[in-house]
Amino acid sequence: MKHIIRSQDFSREYIEDLFRTTQLLQPFCETYEGRERLSGLLKHRIFYLAFYQPSTRTRFSFESAGKLTGAYTMSSENAAEYSSEVKGEITEDTIHTFCRLRADCIIIRHKDNDAAEISAKAMDKYRPQTKLINAGNGKGQHPTQSLIDLFAIKRNLGRMDDFTALIAGDLDSRTPRSLAYLLSKFNNIKIIFASPPNMRMGQDLLDHLEEHRVPFDQTDFLDDAMKQADMVYMTRAQKEYHPGEKDIKFDDNFRITLSRMEFLKDGAFLTHPLPIAGEVDREAVAHPKVKCFEAVEDGQVLRMALLCKMFNADLSWLN
Ligand code: NCD
Repeated sequence: MKHIIRSQDFSREYIEDLFRTTQLLQPFCETYEGRERLSGLLKHRIFYLAFYQPSTRTRFSFESAGKLTGAYTMSSENAAEYSSEVKGEITEDTIHTFCRLRADCIIIRHKDNDAAEISAKAMDKYRPQTKLINAGNGKGQHPTQSLIDLFAIKRNLGRMDDFTALIAGDLDSRTPRSLAYLLSKFNNIKIIFASPPNMRMGQDLLDHLEEHRVPFDQTDFLDDAMKQADMVYMTRAQKEYHPGEKDIKFDDNFRITLSRMEFLKDGAFLTHPLPIAGEVDREAVAHPKVKCFEAVEDGQVLRMALLCKMFNADLSWLN
C-alpha cells in the first residue's frame, strides 16, 4: 500500500504490526532522551501538510509526529484561504508543485470527496515516490482517525474482535465511515448505528457490511443501544455539510449526558474523534469511561509509527 486513502485498504496484519510499533515507540516519546532516539528515524524526509478544512488534532498530531521523527514538516493550516486554490488553481497543479518541491509525503485534508484520489493520481504522474495520506476527504473517509479509534478499542477492551460497537451521531460523515470499514475486518463484531433520521449511514457502507457479513442495526435512539454496547463512538452534527438547515444540532434524546453514561456496561467505554460541539455534556466529558483525549495522546505515537512504516525507518533497535 503506497498511499493511505481508505481504511478498507489496511490488512489486519498491517494494523497489528502498526499497533505493535506504536506500543514500542510510546515510552520513547515520554522523555527527552527517548525523543533523541526517535529524532533520527525520518531524518531529511520532506512532508507537506495541506489542510483545506479546519483541524486541531489531526494537523498538530501529524506535524509533531513528523518533527519528532526528524522529518521536515511544513504545513498550510488554512489552505482554503491561503493557497493558490483561491486564485483558481486546480488540485492537480497544487500537488504537482509539492512534488516538484521534493515531497516525500503529502498529507491532505480537503472538503471534496474526490480530493484524495485526484491528489494520489497527480503524485503517481509527477513524482511516483511521493506518498499521500488522506487526512479527511469531504464526507468520504479519514483512515488514520479510524486507526486511532481502533487502537482505543484495543487499549480499552483489550481486544479487536468479539464486541458490539455503537456508532452514533452524524453518520453521514468521514470518521464513522472509516471506522465501520475498519471494523468489518475483525471477527464477531456487531455494529449499532444510532442517528437522527437525516444523518443516517450511507447505503454504500451498509452494502459493504452485508457483503462482509457484519451484523448491524440502525436506530433513532441512544439509550437501549448504549446498554448493549462495549464501545460507543459519538460524533458531532456536521453543520458544514447540512447547508440550509440552520443551527443544526441533536435534540436532548441524542446527547451524551452524565446519566446516560451510567447505561454503559462495566468495562465499556466511549470515544469521539473530536471536536466535541455540544453533543457530549461537559460533566460527561469528565466521566472516567470517556477516553477520547487519551486517544489523542496515543494518536500522535500511532502517526509516528505509521510514517515510520511508510518510509521504512530502521526500527530494528526497538525489538
Ligand atoms: C474529525 C474530522 O475532521 O473528520 N476530526 C478529526 O480529524 N479527528 C471529526 C469532525 O470534524 O467532526
